Amino acid sequence: MTTGYTPAPLKQIEPHGGELINRVLEGAARDEALARAQSLPRLTINEWEESDVEIIAVGALSPLRGFMNPDDFESVVNDMRLTNGLPWTLPVTLSASADFAGSVREGDEVALESERGQLLGILKIESKYKHNKSKEALKVYGTDELAHPGVAAIYKKGEYLLGGPIDVIDLPHHDDFLDRRLTPSQTRAVFRERNWRRVVAFQTRNPIHRAHEYMTKVAMEITDGLLLHPLMGKTKDDDVSPELRMKTYEVMIEKYYPKDRVLLAVNPSAMRYAGPREAIFHAILRKNYGCTHFIVGRDHAGVGNYYGSFDAHYIFDYFEPEEIGITPLFFDYTFYCRKTGGMASVKTSPGTKEDWVTLSGTKVREMLRAGEMPPPEFTRPEVARILIEGMARADTGANI
Ligand code: ADX
Ligand code: MG
Repeated sequence: MTTGYTPAPLKQIEPHGGELINRVLEGAARDEALARAQSLPRLTINEWEESDVEIIAVGALSPLRGFMNPDDFESVVNDMRLTNGLPWTLPVTLSASADFAGSVREGDEVALESERGQLLGILKIESKYKHNKSKEALKVYGTDELAHPGVAAIYKKGEYLLGGPIDVIDLPHHDDFLDRRLTPSQTRAVFRERNWRRVVAFQTRNPIHRAHEYMTKVAMEITDGLLLHPLMGKTKDDDVSPELRMKTYEVMIEKYYPKDRVLLAVNPSAMRYAGPREAIFHAILRKNYGCTHFIVGRDHAGVGNYYGSFDAHYIFDYFEPEEIGITPLFFDYTFYCRKTGGMASVKTSPGTKEDWVTLSGTKVREMLRAGEMPPPEFTRPEVARILIEGMARADTGANI
């Protein structure tokens, strides 16, 4: 006798809004746009905006097809939703100087060029509006202090915003990690091939320490695979360099993870350090990459003391779970617990602070700079060695 239950056909999570956007032109459409772009005014966009062009174009920001118009900007800043009602917590905008904005009109097209002079694509201008920077700073980041790196990035932008759909001629050029730059349709294809029905994503901008390893493995116990998805777009200057971080991820997978259950791919986004609002943004982005679960730990996407340690958990309750779609997995503070001889969190350790191996980022940084190995309960020795060598070589500086 058998109950007759066999695995049902694999059904992947829907992108945000239901459709995976693709704004990358191909073939004749690309040739035609390339020719047209030659006679259009050129707008040089910054590194942050360049990475936004990339994530919009490949569908990582579905349902966005371009940069926000003022109605979506206002709705997102005020209500954390697009005008169509979908949850959306961070403005995605393209800036221009007053001079440039004065030289173009709604309905015009402009060619977008990177700071390195690469032609990226064409923006069809639907709107032109003054950027209310202090409002965005206060509502989205909770502060208008320039010491906050996300706020500083807003204030560096031009005074005007141009909204409208983009058509990408060439994605931003990269010369590193080429085989790890997977688009949402590519990660979705890998998950299908591997028959991963439940996939957990891990966002990080740091080397993987034991606390991170623990959270990902706890999550792997209840899913079929892990998308290790480090953010490799612009981060603040004292974060560890992408090269060094990538080495730590590779050595971790090599030594400490079952390789066939981990996919290591680059998230090309820029880091905004918007704490809770960015946690929702990060979750939705990973839904678009085909993940069903998303890890949110302590002070997710935080910087300094701008956010409460668990604000990024609380914000999820401002939405219905089904409208976010991807399931957040919330973690309290995690560490090695000497009392039980294993990794644990505030929720599972019977011990007290004295039993917990914790180190501040500053302390770890000092140790690594001095060539000292942090305790193996905190960092795997292979990772510590990479960081010590890397720092000695380049004195990269590191926020770990
Ligand atoms: S960031 O996007 O949140 O800035 P970071 O690398 O610092 O990236 O952290 C990655 C993830 O691990 C985030 O979800 C963060 O909340 C979580 N995290 C990092 N360290 C700990 C820790 N010791 N305990 C619990 N969660 C942690
Ligand atoms: Mg952190």
